[in-house]
Amino acid sequence: MSFRLTLILLNVLVIGGLLGVVFWRVFSLRRSPESTPANLTPFLEDEALEGRRLERVLGWTLLFSVVMILSLLAYFLWEPFRQPIMEDGFLERSVDRGAVLFANKASEHYNSEFSLLCADCHGVDGTGGVAIQTLQPEADECQLKKNKNNPDVPECAPQQVQWTAPNLTLAPLRYKRAQLIDIVTYGREGTPMPAWGVKSGKGPKNVQSINDLVNYLQSIKVTSDEAMKNAETAVDDYRKSADALVKGLQDESDKAAAALLEAQADPATSADDLDGLQSDADRLAAELALAITYRDDVEALTDGGVLFRLNCARCHTKGWSYYENDPANIDMAPLPAMGSGAYGPNLTNGSVLLQFPGKVGQQNQTTWVTDGVPEQGVYGVRGISSGRMPHFGKVLTKEQIAAIIEYERSL
Ligand code: HEC
Ligand code: HEC
Repeated sequence: MSFRLTLILLNVLVIGGLLGVVFWRVFSLRRSPESTPANLTPFLEDEALEGRRLERVLGWTLLFSVVMILSLLAYFLWEPFRQPIMEDGFLERSVDRGAVLFANKASEHYNSEFSLLCADCHGVDGTGGVAIQTLQPEADECQLKKNKNNPDVPECAPQQVQWTAPNLTLAPLRYKRAQLIDIVTYGREGTPMPAWGVKSGKGPKNVQSINDLVNYLQSIKVTSDEAMKNAETAVDDYRKSADALVKGLQDESDKAAAALLEAQADPATSADDLDGLQSDADRLAAELALAITYRDDVEALTDGGVLFRLNCARCHTKGWSYYENDPANIDMAPLPAMGSGAYGPNLTNGSVLLQFPGKVGQQNQTTWVTDGVPEQGVYGVRGISSGRMPHFGKVLTKEQIAAIIEYERSL
């Protein structure tokens, strides 16, 4: 039984007891009407009343007054902390509810009734993951109904890709609270990120649950210093992983070529087996060629270029979100020019230089990427912010941002 319930029960008991006494007195008078009522019976003499008896009564009064003063004093001293304590408790409970909403089966807070499985895509600890997305080919002939899902037109078959779901322990550093609420409420059309808020007309969750989720995200954010340090190591890791991709494919491709040679030398190999081995070897050779082009691109990049890929490309380059997970995929359409626009505008062909011209422009561009401007505020020469772009002053150092700006201005 909780403390609160105990107090309520105690109150009910006391009030019930008092009522019982009153009823008993009234009914006992009714039952014997000739007995003298208590207020008409003779009482003690003044002599007796004004002696020790009076002192005793006054003593009790003094004692109760002291108790009253002390409790008022205690209340007065405690009062200023009551609100923050209440707010902390309120936030704590909200974060707990958010953790349950965020969880998936692998999380400690999972609840089969309430959990929304954000962790399936964003990782159990929110540090990012991948989501499967089905892409419909965009070629004109694939828009015709007869070509959709038609096995005779394989180039129009939907394609499954692995779309990067971002690291959310950085999200509260990159976005203001209102932006996070918008993202979670409306999701992001055309990406795997669903809409969760009732307000969007598509999601199941009310404003309180959206707030709980955002409070949870704010509770798992990393510090600014950590984010900046991780951004530094991410640049090296990115270059290393491009190298590792080539090495891995080189090994596989060598093995496939050797297996093919061996099979060709063996007269017992069937024509079907030979075809199979040949196509494996061709495929791996083609993947290796793509991986080498990718690795060479990465090697030619400045730190600013790598940082752009790691932080900006997913919004400013169409297809980057899945290309980056599988750069040697020969079935994927080639990536358009880096920075040529997607969810965020095209930054290539000097369009950044038009928006942010000259030295002053470069300064403005830095401020824009670092802190941004309020929603509907003006940036650059002709930009009006929709409030959708994240800002990077808390996740990248000044030098890293300067390097990205330098790279952007060369696009
Ligand atoms: C089906 C996979 C999936 C699920 C489930 C999902 N997300 Fe996402 N989420 C994504 C992807 C993918 C993106 C990035 C979209 C893009 O590329 O623009 C994203 C983006 C976000 C962002 C913006 C992050 C940034 O840095 O831009 C936030 C915040 C977010 N999700 C929160 C949530 C929350 C909270 C939930 C659960 C209520 C959730 N997501 C469930 C896939 C998912
Ligand atoms: C979550 C998606 C997203 C990410 C990530 C993102 N941007 Fe943006 N960016 C936008 C959107 C959307 C706009 C359009 C402005 C607006 O709506 O406020 C924009 C606008 C810009 C502009 C102004 C372009 C113009 O001509 O108006 C620049 C410059 C820019 N972004 C640079 C960057 C850089 C640098 C990074 C990485 C450090 C980055 N962006 C990361 C979404 C994004």
